[in-house]
Amino acid sequence: AESASDKLILALPKGRILAESAPVLHAAGIDPEPSFHDEDSRALRFTTNRPDIDIIRVRSFDVATFVAFGAAHLGICGSDVLMEFDFTEIYAPVDLGIGRCRLSVAEPADLAASDDPSRWSHIRIATKYPELTKRHFAARGVQAECIKLNGAMELAPTLGLCHRIVDLVSSGRTLKENGLKEIERIAEVSSRFIVNRAALKTRPEAIGAWIERFRAAAHGAVA
Ligand code: PRP
Repeated sequence: AESASDKLILALPKGRILAESAPVLHAAGIDPEPSFHDEDSRALRFTTNRPDIDIIRVRSFDVATFVAFGAAHLGICGSDVLMEFDFTEIYAPVDLGIGRCRLSVAEPADLAASDDPSRWSHIRIATKYPELTKRHFAARGVQAECIKLNGAMELAPTLGLCHRIVDLVSSGRTLKENGLKEIERIAEVSSRFIVNRAALKTRPEAIGAWIERFRAAAHGAVA
């Protein structure tokens, strides 16, 4: 039998994905303690109905960091974040089919009307994803100079920080309301169930079983 110190830590992202995760968690057999759903709670770590699992609630980029360093064993993380960091210590075996959106390049609608991305050679881009953006453009010989922002990227073009942004687009409302237009799609995004590779090696049965439960939960969710 495993002791309390063998507890697995599951890292979940704050924000929109949190609500979409709830049915998947439930289908996988995990129900967080009630205070987890209390938006006013300042607690960051929560127990669950499973004595072998606690949940932590962190920023989406930090889910990947906690899991990559083995501070959390399991996590739910957007493929956008995984692409940005490219951590070798993270194994992402299950596409949960939640948090679907796309990662796109956008620019002011009037510029987009006559702009041709295939003619770009050097561009400046405001984004939360500098690594992924540089890699994406370098692959076709375009030098992307990135300005790192942590949110509200859509303000950058109107205020003259740079013409273009790379950001997540879901309904497209944020772009529209800020006078921007999607000009190129970089990737389709969805959330993955992730595990720390070293932890999977040392505790293959416990963690392997969670991979299977989340795989089954994801398939149930899309059926
Ligand atoms: C994301 C993204 C866009 C917006 C796109 O931000 O950064 O701003 O959603 O969604 P839409 O196309 O449906 O308008 P989010 O609200 O997740 O908050 P964040 O700024 O903290 O990332």
